[in-house]
Amino acid sequence: MTIGALTADGRGRLLNDGNQIPLLGLGVWQMSDGRECEDAVRWALELGYRHIDTAQAYGNEESVGKALLASAVPRDDIFITTKFLPGNRDPVAAMEQSLRRLGVDHVDLYLIHSPQGDATWAWPGMERARELGYARSVGISNFNATELDEVIGVGTIAPAVNQINFSSLQYRKALLEACERRGVVLEAYSPLGTGRHLGNQTVRLVADRVERTPAQVLLRWCIQRDIPVIPKSTHRDRIEENADIFSFQLSDEDMRALDALDETGGTDRAVEHPWW
Ligand code: A2P
Repeated sequence: MTIGALTADGRGRLLNDGNQIPLLGLGVWQMSDGRECEDAVRWALELGYRHIDTAQAYGNEESVGKALLASAVPRDDIFITTKFLPGNRDPVAAMEQSLRRLGVDHVDLYLIHSPQGDATWAWPGMERARELGYARSVGISNFNATELDEVIGVGTIAPAVNQINFSSLQYRKALLEACERRGVVLEAYSPLGTGRHLGNQTVRLVADRVERTPAQVLLRWCIQRDIPVIPKSTHRDRIEENADIFSFQLSDEDMRALDALDETGGTDRAVEHPWW
């Protein structure tokens, strides 16, 4: 299989290190530690999700860990991502803490949460975490095209993934193309615009036409581009709805209408206003 290709079941993508990432995951950003996060992860696993995305910065790795422990789904069937918070300074030491909180001996993907400080300083520590077996794959998040090249320049391996704010309204086409050219899979966070895109008129029109919900249309737009996507919801019915995106297709015309919603000008930037 070539880098970036879809897996045989059409629901995953091959990474540049030979591992596979499921296209659909549950994002747990903005879920409070405790019941809310535990329930969401538990429901997602019951409903067939096999990919959970957390971060040191979210403060809810322990809840993710509790839900994983309580689940009947074998650990090896679940793709777990966490992210290195640059304020933690040492990716290896910070990962040891994450593993303890998550109650696992490795994660599947470990990302630098942002290029805080500069783009490259944390990368050797990320590679070390991988060599130690703490993470099967390593990558970056919120890196623009220039920062991606800087990491590739210092690394002995390239990032497997760049996770960024991406959706039809944040269609960062130049960054997507830069990632694809370098064999890096772009992963979309905030695919629903943290809920804001659900009321968009074009999204609603397309949803009416295909008899799906606005959330399903926005998520399908990513999946149809083979882009892994991690919608967040704390409601069981929405978690279920967001997973039902493999049984329909958007026409070329609808894809073009959604592409045209881009508000970023096709930028190669990962975010408009860095918060770090
Ligand atoms: P909630 O968690 O209360 O269900 P994003 O994934 O872009 O960050 O968007 C997450 C936001 O969208 C959350 O506010 C979430 O609310 C909401 N949301 C997620 N899925 C759906 C859905 N299927 N229908 C309506 N709102 C949704």
